[in-house]
Formats: sequence, C-alpha cells, structure tokens
Amino acid sequence: MTSQFGSARQVEIYSRGGPGAVPVSARRLERLAGRAMTPAARAYVFGAAGGEATLRANRGVFDHWRIVPRMLRDVSQRDLRVELFGATLPAPVLLAPVGVQELVHAEGDLPASRAAAARGAPFVLSTVSSRSIEEIAAVGGPRWFQLYWGKNPELTVSLLQRAAAAGYSALVVTLDTPMLGWRERDLDRGDLPFLRGAGLANFFSDPVFCSALGCPPEENRPAAVALWSRVFSNPALSWKDLAWLRAQTKLPIVLKGIQHPDDARQALACGADGIIVSNHGGRQVDGAIASLDALPGIAAAVENRVPVLFDSGVRRGADAFKALALGARAVLLGRLYLYGLALDGEAGVGAVLDNFIADFDLTLALSGYRAPGELTCIALAQR
Ligand SMILES: Cc1cc2nc3c(=O)[nH]c(=O)nc-3n(C[C@H](O)[C@H](O)[C@H](O)COP(=O)(O)O)c2cc1C
Repeated sequence: MTSQFGSARQVEIYSRGGPGAVPVSARRLERLAGRAMTPAARAYVFGAAGGEATLRANRGVFDHWRIVPRMLRDVSQRDLRVELFGATLPAPVLLAPVGVQELVHAEGDLPASRAAAARGAPFVLSTVSSRSIEEIAAVGGPRWFQLYWGKNPELTVSLLQRAAAAGYSALVVTLDTPMLGWRERDLDRGDLPFLRGAGLANFFSDPVFCSALGCPPEENRPAAVALWSRVFSNPALSWKDLAWLRAQTKLPIVLKGIQHPDDARQALACGADGIIVSNHGGRQVDGAIASLDALPGIAAAVENRVPVLFDSGVRRGADAFKALALGARAVLLGRLYLYGLALDGEAGVGAVLDNFIADFDLTLALSGYRAPGELTCIALAQR
C-alpha cells in the first residue's frame, strides 16, 4: 500500500456517514463482537490461561511506550510495503493462525482468508482450522501454514507435503502449545471445541490420519476425535528435533512463541528462517511476561539475521508502530480480526484490516515517518 491510504479510508467512512456494521473503535468492536458470538465462541475467543493476567499485560504493555512525533519531514509520499521471505506485503500485517473459526462463522476460515487475499495480506492457516489446507488454497491469496507438531511423524510429513503442494509459502511452527493451557472459561463450561470434532478439517481430510483410523472419520467420529487427541501435540519435543523438521520441508520455517533471547539464538542455530515473538495471546502461561516486553531483547539477539514478527495484544495502528520500532518486521492480528468476522464475515474482516492499516499509515505519517523500515526505538520514549 502506498501513499494516502489512511486519509482515503477516513474520507470513505465519513462520506458513508459512518463505518457500518463494524465499529472503528477497537473497544466498541470488541464489545459488539462479544455480543454477536455464542457463549461457547465467546469463551474460546476471549478466554486466556488462568486468571488472564498475561492477556491483560499484553495490552497494558503498549502504554509503557510512547511515540515521539517528529515534524516537517515531508511525509506526503509513504510506502507501507515490507519484504518477507522474498514476497512483498502491501503493509506489515498478517492474519495470525486462529483455529476453529467455525465457532465464529458458519464458513469457518473462508471469509477471513478471502478478506486477506483481497488485500494481499498473508493468511496463516492453523493446523486446527475449520476448512482444509486445500480449500483455503483455492481462495488464492498469499498463505502460510501453521503447524501444531504432533506425535505422529508420518502425519506431520503429510501435512507439510499438502501445504507445499497447495502453494503455502512459509511454515509457522507453534512451539508454545505442547499441551493446552489451563483455560478457565472453557473448563468451567466443560466445553472444548475439538472434542466435538470442530477444528479438525485438516486431520479428517488427511490420508495418513484416515489410514491410522481405519475408516472415514464421518463413520466413527468419536474414534476420530480420540485419535486426534492422542496425536495432536508432543510435549517430548526438544530443540534437537528441529533438524528432522528442517529436513522435511523446503519452506521457510518460522518459529512462533519465542519469548526469551536465548531461545531466539537457539532458533537461529537450528536454522529457523524467522521468529514470531508471541505468547499466544496469553492463552498458554498465565503470569507470563507481556509479549511486547520480550521483543526488544529478542530483536537484539537476532541482529537482523532473520525477520522477527510480533503478535499478542495488537489492536491499533500505534501498537504496530511500537512493535516495529522495537524490532518487528510485521505484526499478526489474532482476536482483532475475529471480531470483524463475528460482526460481518468477510466484509467485517476486510473492514478491520482496512481500518488497522489506515490507522497505522496515519500514525506513521503524523510521527514523521514514511516507511515501516524507518522505524527504530528512537521513535519511542519509555514511560
Ligand atoms: C481463538 C483463538 C485461536 C487460536 N488458535 C491458534 C492456532 O490454532 N495456532 C496458533 O499458533 N495460534 C493460535 N492462536 C494464537 C494466535 O495466533 C495469536 O498468537 C494470538 O491471537 C495473539 O493474541 P491477540 O489475539 O490477543 O492479539 C489462537 C488465538 C485465539 C484467540
């Protein structure tokens, strides 16, 4: 995206007399989306681990940093594009892997992947998506595949081969979920979507999974779900296993869930092509540090050798500005785009993306910068 995107979006909204179904204000968006969801979806999407201290910290930490605007620097021509793994993104924004989207929309991952495709933003498909690797590939946009690395190596290889064959251009390996966190809202409801067979499209369409099951999953759903729960994750994995994964795919490998500089160094030593600083939106370790607190130390450890991406708590353009100034190449939106999905499907995700990028563009310009690559910690002051 180039010049004036933010101002054009303002004109569009004012000339329509308002934003329509999807509020611009992130707070109002969140409130209305919560009301639009079923109780099960609300618990799953809004919930986090334990007392949700890390969920709150992920948001609160953005207030520890303030932008220091600079004046008279000719910001008339701006260019939001960034490069990642040989591809050019229109803006430094991707859609994070988010599983079980059928909880929020009947068409599962299709509306969000279509909205992302229409804007050229990469859509990161979760392992536990509601639509299969191939169905999302048919949408045609830039796409990455996120792997939950389970216990069955043949199944892992099968998923990786399917992703490569279907044109996914990067592999995100989520490291922070060797098991599910203690999510009080879901536990209190006694409801985990996967145990109802939700979010298992990639498994139920997989030849290795189906042959291990011995029958088509629709013929014995309880057995299919039980098999999934046995193979889904693998707490025995360690850094040395990455050599095996590296040998299974030519795709760039991006390790998601890094929160310590030593783990970032370890990732580089194991041949990772990128890192996502993320704490899974506070859904895994309650009381863990805010993800933004981890970013500067990790960026320093990585020293620009591979791209560092960031998620957890990103809701506004200023959040992206701060994450980029602290060393991220791009940010991933998680819950934020689900709010748009809940309110207006594909158009809702599109509105969220357009508003987010417009806000980022204006924040950049009004602070005296013309491109994401110009941002460094000099643009910020610590409170
Ligand atoms: C409902 C929900 C489902 C998620 N599913 C996945 C997933 O399948 N794989 C994954 O790596 N991360 C998953 N995440 C984590 C996101 O990729 C991302 O790290 C997180 O949403 C960022 O926090 P935020 O949404 O508060 O900004 C999920 C998050 C939510 C809210």
